[in-house]
Amino acid sequence: MTTRAVVVGCGHYLPTRVVENAEFEATLDTDDQWIRSRSGIERRHFASEGETTSTMATAAAKAALEDAGLQPDDVDAIVLATSTADFTFPSAATMVQDQLGMTQGYAFDVQAVCAGFVFALSNANALIASGQAKRVLVIGSETFSKIMDWTDRSTCVLFGDGAGALLLEAQDGNGDASDRGILATDLNSDGRHRELLYVDGGVSTGTTGYLRMQGNQVFRHAVAKLAATATTAMERAGVTASDVDWIVPHQANIRIIQGTAKKLDLPMENVVVTVQDHGNTSAASIPLALSVGRARGQIKPNDLIVTEAIGGGLAWGAVVLRW
Ligand code: UT7
Repeated sequence: MTTRAVVVGCGHYLPTRVVENAEFEATLDTDDQWIRSRSGIERRHFASEGETTSTMATAAAKAALEDAGLQPDDVDAIVLATSTADFTFPSAATMVQDQLGMTQGYAFDVQAVCAGFVFALSNANALIASGQAKRVLVIGSETFSKIMDWTDRSTCVLFGDGAGALLLEAQDGNGDASDRGILATDLNSDGRHRELLYVDGGVSTGTTGYLRMQGNQVFRHAVAKLAATATTAMERAGVTASDVDWIVPHQANIRIIQGTAKKLDLPMENVVVTVQDHGNTSAASIPLALSVGRARGQIKPNDLIVTEAIGGGLAWGAVVLRW
């Protein structure tokens, strides 16, 4: 028998403030047509005053708990993927623990930028597989609007805020690809590419800083690395592309999503796409897409799902799971 980390609940939270592409035309030399055609983004949500990474994460976590019919104290651990924690420390995860009223267990952040949710899922899977936790809330939450340089048209039109959460539970499986839960993971990073995507602030500068990105350089890495990591994870899971019901990719750019699907030999009908409505929400994008995909009726129990993401570091990876 194999212990599997099975999804028993999911939920998401999006700030109420929606900003359409056209709104940027008033302050920047840009237009809706450029943003749509280069990225696939049409609108994004931005956090309002008082909304933070931890408050959005808590809202998504509550939705996942309610979906599972469980209480905060039924959970052993919170793993929160974010690069925009409310403070340098404590972790946003411990703030969520407090906001949920959870008085036991443990909580910590995982920081792998846009690949953060894949890294968090893999870590949560390891906690469950090793018996260190029976139920883990895995959350992705970001307020990238707080690290945008609003004068830089090449970045500020691309990102958005939001949060998504999965509740994973230890369940017995047979040890083959028919099991529900996480079947395989693949994680990678290459710190030589730090300059392609980074924030120019932090404890070494005494500022929060702004996101800086050489978008076309990141793009060049993205499709090849995403297809490779997804293929590795599928091989480890003992499945092939023809077994896959849904690719749920990081939602950075529709052209990257399409290019990766093509390389994996999967039609766009098998891809959950939310980039048009959310923009790039970094570590929140995959759990948001999973939750929205389920709400749309796309993702159903027993579906085989491949998630893949790449971002600052560079860091990238994939997770294969059966819903
Ligand atoms: O999630 C983490 C990982 N990040 C990503 O995956 C992002 C990957 N990169 C991308 O999505 C794309 O590279 C972008 C959407 C960022 C940019 O698309 P691109 O086709 O690679 O365009 P580019 O950066 O090569 O820029 C083309 C032109 C430039 O003008 P010139 O030099 O050709 O005259 C830019 O200055 O578009 C210009 N440009 C804009 N024009 C209007 C850049 N931003 C804008 C803008 N509006 N907002």
